[in-house]
This record gives sequence, structure tokens and C-alpha cells, in this order.
Amino acid sequence: MNLAVLVSGGGTNLQAILDADLPVRVVVSNRKRAFGLERARRAGVPAEVVSHRGFPSREDHDAAVVTALRRHGVDTVALAGFMRIVTPTLLDAFPGRVVNIHPALCPAFPGLHAQRQALEHGARVTGATVHFVDAGVDTGAIIIQGAVPVLDDDDEASLSARVLEVEHRIYPEALRLLGAGRLTVKGRRVRIKQLEGPR
Ligand code: GRF
Repeated sequence: MNLAVLVSGGGTNLQAILDADLPVRVVVSNRKRAFGLERARRAGVPAEVVSHRGFPSREDHDAAVVTALRRHGVDTVALAGFMRIVTPTLLDAFPGRVVNIHPALCPAFPGLHAQRQALEHGARVTGATVHFVDAGVDTGAIIIQGAVPVLDDDDEASLSARVLEVEHRIYPEALRLLGAGRLTVKGRRVRIKQLEGPR
């Protein structure tokens, strides 16, 4: 696997991926001030900025991102706090190889502020989901989910912190499975091939 991680912000998921020694070939951000870029540099991984400004359409921006990814020999793309809706221009360049993490138990609470949505809804349980990316927003086939309780005195910050701990665990794990060829997708369902254990 030759992995790219796309970020827009702090990049704590990127850090978890780097710490797991996954084969990250490049980190791309649409924002030049994203701290994720600094995390990449510290890890000795190439970091590139492809600003979304100045492109006439989302597709044109995605085409520029694809060009940058190809230059680094990428075959798999992990969105990690990448605050852009990606288009078929990117998805078709890496079919079945674009994944995302969403801070809720999909299909609940898609889109922005998923933790706030969970609180406002009065959910008792929420969590995080790693999923394949399709043309919708947080709608693709689910790879791994992890749940956390919502506590009575939670606010958005405390709940987000609890969810992030799960994110940092399940994202590297999902990418490891994808890289090892252990995921197969049938319709909406992803099967994880189990390893043969000692008998
Ligand atoms: C995470 O909660 C991720 O699920 C969401 O944005 C946040 C990014 O955090 N899409 P970080 O940049 O990885 O720290």
C-alpha cells in the first residue's frame, strides 16, 4: 500500500496513522496553516498544500489533488479531518481505495458537528466510523466502528475527546486491514478476512 493522508486541520488522526508505521507517502492539505503538515514534516513524510482557492470547481481542485497524489505513487487515500466533500474526480482515480473517518456511528449524524448532533439528539451512545467513501456524505460502506457512552455532563469538547480516542484506535486498524488485502466489499457490507490461527 502507498498511502496518502488528506488533512485540513490539527491532524491527530494523521498522527495516529504515522505512529502506527503505516506506509504514508505524502500528506496533502487544502489549508497551508494546517498543523497536520507540520506533523508530516516531523515524521519525515512529504507534505504538500493544494489550496482549494482559485479553482473554478470542486472537480478542478480534486484533479490537482490527484496529480499531486500520483506524483507520489499513491494507491490509497485516507481522509483525516479533510473538510472538503470529494468528487468522483478523486474517487474514480482510486476506485475502492478512498476511506474516511466520521466521528459518529454511521449512518447517524452525518456531516459537520457530529458530536454536537449526538448531544442535541440526546443519544446515549455515539462513536466513530471508518468507511469507504462514496458520492454521498459519510454514507459509504462501513469498515470498523467503535462506540463510546454519552455522559450526562458531557459537552461537545468532552464528548469529542472521548470519540477521538476511538478514532485513533480504529483508523490505523482499518488501514492496516485494507493494506493487507483483508477487506472485501459486497454491496454495503464489508467482510474482514480472519487470519488462520494456530490450531
Ligand atoms: C475528527 O473528529 C474526524 O473524525 C473529523 O474531523 C476531526 C479531525 O481531527 N472528520 P484531527 O484533525 O484528525 O485531529
